[in-house]
Amino acid sequence: MAKSRKRGNKNTPRRGPARSHVLLVSILAGAVGVICYYTLKNGWAQKLLEERPVDDVDLFEVVQLPGKGMGLVALRDIEPGQLLIREKPLFTVPSQISSSPASLIWSSLARVTPFERDAFLNLSYVHFPSHLNPEDHPEEVALAIFQTNAVSAGDDVGIFPRMARLNHGCSSAFNAVYSWRESEGVLVVHALKGIRKGEELLTTYTDTKRPRRHRREYLSGQYGFSCTCAVCSLPSQQSRASDRRLSAMVDKYQRLSTWAQGSIGKDEAINLTNEIWALGEEEGYWSERGRLAADAAWVAAAHSDVDAVKTWALKAKIWYSRELGSDSEQVKEMESVLEQPQSHRAWGTRSSTKG
Ligand SMILES: *[C@@H]1O[C@H](CO)[C@@H](O)[C@H](O)[C@H]1NC(C)=O
Ligand SMILES: *[C@@H]1O[C@H](CO)[C@@H](O)[C@H](O)[C@H]1NC(C)=O
Repeated sequence: MAKSRKRGNKNTPRRGPARSHVLLVSILAGAVGVICYYTLKNGWAQKLLEERPVDDVDLFEVVQLPGKGMGLVALRDIEPGQLLIREKPLFTVPSQISSSPASLIWSSLARVTPFERDAFLNLSYVHFPSHLNPEDHPEEVALAIFQTNAVSAGDDVGIFPRMARLNHGCSSAFNAVYSWRESEGVLVVHALKGIRKGEELLTTYTDTKRPRRHRREYLSGQYGFSCTCAVCSLPSQQSRASDRRLSAMVDKYQRLSTWAQGSIGKDEAINLTNEIWALGEEEGYWSERGRLAADAAWVAAAHSDVDAVKTWALKAKIWYSRELGSDSEQVKEMESVLEQPQSHRAWGTRSSTKG
């Protein structure tokens, strides 16, 4: 299937002062990746990273799927939280470059092994200029492949040929989540849900918490395919119900984000969190729960509520373990909050009486 991933990863670890805007970050993360990607204009080539993954061998296979192109299919039942892929980039380029993107990609490609080059050139691409013949313009083809398959890797944008075979699903249809680990220089993909032997592994290329019509327009415009995932294929009545839940989640996330400016108090923030959680349960949309719970723990800590901090930090730990891996920084952070709620960075920064 033709696809591109211009979004960044919503689960990229937050750094530094961004933490204080945590609630806003949750909502804006999808858009940030797009902006970041399109600044691929000014910069220089980066050092090639050579290690290749080996730990995903018996979990899934890469197969040709009827009417869909290549995809990944589970070779056995997979538990939630299972590490599916751990992959170093074939190469990365800074998201800001000054040279021509096509020649930058081309020169990066000249430095990989013939095997890696094949893996790259095997990837699909969309949006190739229609007046050009691909055979005569290998540099433009390489650029199109890059633009179609690259994902953000910290401040850079990278190519991960194995992960690039993951197809897209919306809302409850995706079962795998990818995240970049800056400290390790790898992209990891974890099973968000249990996956049955023979089922396709699907991730999401964009924030799918929007109505079907908007998702379809966006995916076909930006990524060049019309989505036929389980959620996009629902009969109209069920589809409308799904759209309503997803829109309600967005509205509630938006309202929740106003806690940061002091517009709502702790009780309303926690109520909103519970409501988003319940809507996600009904919809089957479980992604982002780690961050949602961590945000609730943040609110609870700011209002010096030990019990609520513990409750939400525990949920955050459980859901971060699924999406980002039990060995992720985020899980470690929640473990230390659970041990000592008062050590939370936000502890006591809001009046506890304000509710
Ligand atoms: C590229 O695709 C060809 C044809 O499908 C396949 O035989 C080859 O193994 C692929 N190479 C890599 C490195 O993935
Ligand atoms: C939060 O929910 C509780 C229980 O449903 C309710 O009693 C309370 O009024 C709500 N508080 C706010 C501020 O929304």
